[in-house]
Amino acid sequence: MQFLSMGVNSMSVAPSQHLAVPSAPTFVAGQGVPLLDMGRGNGPIRDQTAAAIERVCQSGRFVLGPDCGQLEQSIAAYCQVPHAVGCASGSDALLLALMACGVGSGDEVLMPSYTFFATASAAWRLGARPVFVDIDPATFNLDVTQIEALVTPKTKAIIPVHLFGQCADMSAVDDIARRHQFHVIEDAAQAIGAERGGRRAGSFGHLGCFSFYPTKNLGGFGDGGLVTTADSEMAERLRRLRSHGMHPRYYHEVVGVNSRLDTLQAAVLNVKLPYRDAWTADRQANAKGYRELFAARGLDRVLSLPVAGSNCRHVWNQYVVRVPDGRRDALRSWLLDRKIGTEIYYPVPLHLQRCFSPLGYGPGSLPQSERAAGETLALPIFPELTADEQCTVVEAIAAFFDAAKGR
Ligand SMILES: Cc1ncc(COP(=O)(O)O)c(C=O)c1O
Repeated sequence: MQFLSMGVNSMSVAPSQHLAVPSAPTFVAGQGVPLLDMGRGNGPIRDQTAAAIERVCQSGRFVLGPDCGQLEQSIAAYCQVPHAVGCASGSDALLLALMACGVGSGDEVLMPSYTFFATASAAWRLGARPVFVDIDPATFNLDVTQIEALVTPKTKAIIPVHLFGQCADMSAVDDIARRHQFHVIEDAAQAIGAERGGRRAGSFGHLGCFSFYPTKNLGGFGDGGLVTTADSEMAERLRRLRSHGMHPRYYHEVVGVNSRLDTLQAAVLNVKLPYRDAWTADRQANAKGYRELFAARGLDRVLSLPVAGSNCRHVWNQYVVRVPDGRRDALRSWLLDRKIGTEIYYPVPLHLQRCFSPLGYGPGSLPQSERAAGETLALPIFPELTADEQCTVVEAIAAFFDAAKGR
């Protein structure tokens, strides 16, 4: 089977969220520590994925179909919602969600600035204005105390992002949205399976948006996305919108987009779905391992380590530390020299991206987002990372700070 050469030979990927734009060299397993090694996850399920792909190829059905329906049902159940609608990517999930809420020209959409670009571009593409909220420095999620002051009569929706795998404070968001009557669209692209107060990501808002990009906790062999909702009318609207607003065939009352989930992706994801909680447990064990190793080296007093809230199930899509005193980039190159993969999520907050300059934000407008952009560094946390590799990462960081002290 030639299909499965991707990620089954312990192939490592460049430590970039989007593989098309690698920002550091590819690492070879066994030399250094990769930020993410998909081959280790995909290898053990190679036969199952190969069989699923073969079955789709034999069927000749490559768009939506029963595999997609099965995935939608399984993910709806997993996310504790009645409906899920597959689509072509997490970015499209956000676009479709905003379209389903009727967001358009002149509307305002609240969202964090410290997130991946897709959160804001979806609103921008519809002619709406992203209104950026600063973040809570401890969790990297929306600072909910700042939302209300930014609400205006034009506010049509808020997109809280469950960044790095931890849910935002959804009860506070929900309370404000109810009082001001606008939609809540969760950006849960990084947070499948995350919980807050026993509720799952994707079940809090009117709509929840997920990504199956390969680096996500449930990643396919390409792009894919999905929207969850408890509202059956909303689900029906999403199904039409993802197929050019068409219903019945070749009749269009609304203009939608072409954003259907590939059957091959759905088939691969159906194979992977049963492993999601075991993989999450491995990520959680790795996060605990880092905390212990950093504490043992006294580095928890030098770096700020990420925290999981007491009522949260953090799924650790990323393990992001803060490096103070402007030393983040030097530490990153030190680790790169030792073939340890890291990434900066995200070097430029969205309010300072050049394409959003017409919005009029300048440096200093969102201080916590700007500080995070200058301090954060993501370390390897993928499920199959070994204890030895974690030690290698922590020892290399310890050596960096020792060298800085001149020891
Ligand atoms: C927070 C966030 N939102 C949206 C997206 C977009 O998902 P996709 O890459 O599947 O379009 C991503 C993925 O990178 C993300 O991390």
